[in-house]
Amino acid sequence: MKIAVVGTGYVGLVTGTCFAETGNTVTCVDIDSTKVNKLTNGEITIYEPGLEKLFLRNLKEDRLHFTTDLAAGIKDASIIFLALPTPPGEDGSADLKYILGVASQLGTLLKTDDYKVIIDKSTVPVGTAEKVNAAILESAKKAGVNLTGAFDVVSNPEFLREGVAVDDFMKPDRVVIGTSSEKAKKLMGDLYAPFVRQGNPVIFMDERSAELTKYAANSFLATKISFMNEVARLCELLGADVDMVRRGVGSDDRIGKRFLFPGIGYGGSCFPKDVQALVKSSNEVKYDFKILNAVMEVNETQKLHLFPKIKNYFKGDLKGKHFALWGLAFKPNTDDIREAPALYMIDALTAEGATVTAFDPEAMNNVKKTIGDKITYAENQYAALQGADALIIATEWNEFRTPDFLKIVSTLKNKTIFDGRNLFEVSAIRELGFHYESIGRAPSIIK
Ligand code: UDX
Repeated sequence: MKIAVVGTGYVGLVTGTCFAETGNTVTCVDIDSTKVNKLTNGEITIYEPGLEKLFLRNLKEDRLHFTTDLAAGIKDASIIFLALPTPPGEDGSADLKYILGVASQLGTLLKTDDYKVIIDKSTVPVGTAEKVNAAILESAKKAGVNLTGAFDVVSNPEFLREGVAVDDFMKPDRVVIGTSSEKAKKLMGDLYAPFVRQGNPVIFMDERSAELTKYAANSFLATKISFMNEVARLCELLGADVDMVRRGVGSDDRIGKRFLFPGIGYGGSCFPKDVQALVKSSNEVKYDFKILNAVMEVNETQKLHLFPKIKNYFKGDLKGKHFALWGLAFKPNTDDIREAPALYMIDALTAEGATVTAFDPEAMNNVKKTIGDKITYAENQYAALQGADALIIATEWNEFRTPDFLKIVSTLKNKTIFDGRNLFEVSAIRELGFHYESIGRAPSIIK
């Protein structure tokens, strides 16, 4: 099939590359000519494990193209994906200006005798497919053209996790397609057939339900995490061990093992934005989504849950103290620092007069661009420990999981670790003589 993908951000680039990989011819369109030039010349613009190999292969085999010209990009395509940003406006609702802007342009480009399916891939509020439909029809009407029946607008939300997006795309748990058109349904079914051969479902539904599915899925996962973070807080107060409670609870199939890991809060581009947007959508129809308000509140405070423990350990005075910080990205295997708990930790520590040296395998450049020399940056995880009063762990990168403890002991000033991701067994680390505080588990107190 011939496919156009408008927007070459994270979702657009993964979508375009993965469709090319299954033999389609894909043209990606973006207004940013620097980006388009880079991509055309084989320079990938995002960090996502496994994507570059696929991107280069499909570029070489001439199945993947990039252009700034929307008209040329969509000309031969029967399917047009919109993978455009929907940044939160000041009131938390998703701003649709980019999507509706492209929809209006499409109104002047589509032809009455050349049926195309337009697909919302971005996470958009319920009712957006109808708005896109109206924007296309209206701009065509202004040009004296009646496009009724010449296109359908479909909602097909993405469920890609950063770090494993290629796998999530190639082997999805499910594909959700919202359309009330039989013609569009057939085309979408054919398009996704190679991705669901192992038997996972393509679930067809109406547009509004598909749009809500995305928000409900992410908000549920965020709720699961916040719930477990509150259980962890309770464990600390009641003397229980959250690792045990998590295992005990998660082995019930109805609950499931995944997304039950307590920590210093969820971050990233999706959960915070989507929970906020669903609350906003609910408010618009005068519904008070009480649980989600609590989820947001719990997450805000969870990001700094370790901070009072750190302050308490240093007897309330952090002035002149120096900290090693392992992890800056909001989660492992990404360079994304949006809403990253590590940044909240840095703000809290530096506001009290402490200094920080950080190491992250991928995200340091992004942090340098955002906060510059507010902190210093180390070449590797052990160099970050030099002269530090304690180590703080904010992201669960695999390389932090089994560190060389002898090196840590010989480099850190004090054998003290504050772990926001519960990477180590408390008993093992106590044996090594560390003062160790984590989330929802008894601390190893060394006086
Ligand atoms: C998420 C959704 O999983 C994906 O389906 C959606 O389309 C986009 O948003 P992503 O933001 O990339 O993906 O990351 P994910 O792996 O889901 O983790 C989100 C956050 O939750 C991270 O900050 C992570 O550290 C945190 N988390 C996750 C926990 O704190 N505990 C857990 O048990 C799981």
